[in-house]
Amino acid sequence: MIRLQKYLADAGVSSRRKCEELISQGRVQVNGRIVTEPGTKVEGTEEIRVDGKKVEPAKRKIYILLNKPVGYISSVRDQFSRKTVIDLVSGIKERIYPVGRLDYDTSGLIILTNDGEFANMLMHPRHEAEKVYRAEVEGMLGADDINRLEKGIDIGGYVTAPASVRVIDKTKKRSVVEISIHEGKNRQVRRMFESIGHPVLKLKRTAIGGITVGTLEEGKWRYLTKTEVEDLKLKYSSNLSAE
Ligand code: URA
Repeated sequence: MIRLQKYLADAGVSSRRKCEELISQGRVQVNGRIVTEPGTKVEGTEEIRVDGKKVEPAKRKIYILLNKPVGYISSVRDQFSRKTVIDLVSGIKERIYPVGRLDYDTSGLIILTNDGEFANMLMHPRHEAEKVYRAEVEGMLGADDINRLEKGIDIGGYVTAPASVRVIDKTKKRSVVEISIHEGKNRQVRRMFESIGHPVLKLKRTAIGGITVGTLEEGKWRYLTKTEVEDLKLKYSSNLSAE
């Protein structure tokens, strides 16, 4: 049970203070009866009206960070009945969906939400959130390779925006690199490394917009904290409103 003014405020009617006034002024009905006592408790299942207009309950907004294993598809349903990221998130009644995509053969951080505005904000093509990948690639990367990746490279009809690259480990056979990009073309990281003749052996996304997968085990998920959600909104929504 929650107080009527909180219910109304959560549903976006107005501030809590203003909602108290609406109640006192006799403008709020609960199941057809005018309620004038602001402290009145409601379940949230009642029919609630303000000035005769029905109030739709606030949908709980869900923000989940999943560490996707290889072998899962990052969509809600798959036409070939392969396992999807949704199969890994149990106990959530709301209809959630992934923000952007990770290839079937890529692991790592993917965000799931039911907040369409939030999803659009993170994927907006003009200023996509920074994504960090850890790639294991064939052969030893040289300074020239890194230069080409950093400057932008033609991946078949499209030249990538500048990236930042850091070599973590390298031997003759393979190199491990961290690469940060602000785009999300189809199989972009794989195509970037293919273009320089160092195909990707293994790929994991480790961060989006400063949120890292950390020590979360593969196949496990957690809710984003309130601070993480607010930080992302601060970082990326101001960009959008400036357009
Ligand atoms: N780039 C890729 O090549 N694959 C992904 O899953 C994500 C980025």
